[in-house]
Amino acid sequence: MSVLIKGGRVITAADDYVADVYVEGERISLIGESLDVTADRVIDASGKYVLPGAVDPHTHLEMPWRGETTIDDFESGQTAAAFGGTTTHVDFCIQGKGQTFSEALEIWHGKREGKAVIDNGFHIAVTDLREGGTLEELARLPEEHGVTSYKLFMAYKDSLMVDDETLFRTMQVAAETGALVMVHAENGDAIEVLMAEAIAAGNTAPIYHALTRPPETEGEATNRAIQLARVAGAALYVVHVSCAESVEPVALARDKGWNVWAETCTQYFFIDQSFLDQPDFEGAKYVYTPPPRPKANQEVLWNAVRTNVLQAISTDHCAYLFDGQKDAGKDDFRQIPNGGPGLENRLQMIHHFGVREGRISLNRMVELLCTNPAKLFGLYPRKGTLAVGSDGDIVVFDPEKHVTISAATHHSRSDYNLYEGIEVQGSPEVVLLRGNVIVDGDQFLAKPGSGRFIKRARPNEELKPETLATA
Ligand code: URP
Ligand code: ZN
Ligand code: ZN
Repeated sequence: MSVLIKGGRVITAADDYVADVYVEGERISLIGESLDVTADRVIDASGKYVLPGAVDPHTHLEMPWRGETTIDDFESGQTAAAFGGTTTHVDFCIQGKGQTFSEALEIWHGKREGKAVIDNGFHIAVTDLREGGTLEELARLPEEHGVTSYKLFMAYKDSLMVDDETLFRTMQVAAETGALVMVHAENGDAIEVLMAEAIAAGNTAPIYHALTRPPETEGEATNRAIQLARVAGAALYVVHVSCAESVEPVALARDKGWNVWAETCTQYFFIDQSFLDQPDFEGAKYVYTPPPRPKANQEVLWNAVRTNVLQAISTDHCAYLFDGQKDAGKDDFRQIPNGGPGLENRLQMIHHFGVREGRISLNRMVELLCTNPAKLFGLYPRKGTLAVGSDGDIVVFDPEKHVTISAATHHSRSDYNLYEGIEVQGSPEVVLLRGNVIVDGDQFLAKPGSGRFIKRARPNEELKPETLATA
């Protein structure tokens, strides 16, 4: 099978030019002006952008947690991703208490088998080094499983949180293996006290989710993780940075040349703390963690992505139903499942409000959504760019198309959309995964099971063709 994408504006993190892109089999084999080749399918991309398939480094599909399971499985979540122009994601495999890491990975592989429609890798979320997972096993994950990032939660005291010893020991292993340490940075102990006090005072509504997780608790934990990573000599990636208090320690660390990287998520640019304070429990839709912050933080985040203090924008897609899951917390905000949908709308939202409104360039958008996540998580140059030899993961993006974002038309199983009613200009039209057209307008063409698991290289190491596992 060969596909010729003709006359589009080819945009990578570095380039912007009009050309033809020829995909033979799974890879891009030629890029040039007026290519003289025959192809099984020709796509006219004149007036369109030709972008690399986007890479989402932070998702939670079919994740069981606190008695609920996220509503998108690998098929529905990845379908939503594909319609949004995301062709690769890295999902969190969560080590259950007492489980070895290979046991956890086996369970997560089982979730994607026969369902996957795009490519993915796994991070391992370390929750327990006392019973189950060992430091030795953790050290083997990059070579044996292609899992080159270790995630630790510094919050969620009732479930996923680790103590500083576990955090630090994992960092020491990462320093040896070259894996990237990822942290959810919030001070879980302080938050637990604030939440108990709020409930004791009768404050049960969704807004207390934000009021009991003040930005300082994120700033403190971010700084703690940065300093501990320095002592251990590990590379650190701070996930879902939401406020000035955590941007500042990341900026300082990077200014000093320390090995620190960080992302924010789409929702933090658009949804502020006031969304939690709505009648009829509506605020529960926006209960994710860290919580939506006071509006002034949004400008701080745009500045941080513009100036490379933050290198990636993920979705933290962790979708629940409003009716039937979020309502578990009607009488106690602590019981509202934490998370929101977003996998489908990242490119549309960042293109419209980032690029069209002049906050970032098209090249920077590609860098934040495709190239940097691919580099940091060992997927580059197979993923995250358009180059000869790269996978034929391509988005033909129509910059003129008007879309009203709505749960009525999205592909997630969630019954609400964080960006309901927002109008954007610009949307993916055709999406290719390894040379196969998987989205063609409204049509979805990928077969369940055709997505591939990717054994990733280490951060900033090249992912060579041979390291791709066979489907
Ligand atoms: O609320 C969120 N973000 N849920 C998913 C778990 C996490 O902290 O990333
Ligand atoms: Zn988190
Ligand atoms: Zn998350």
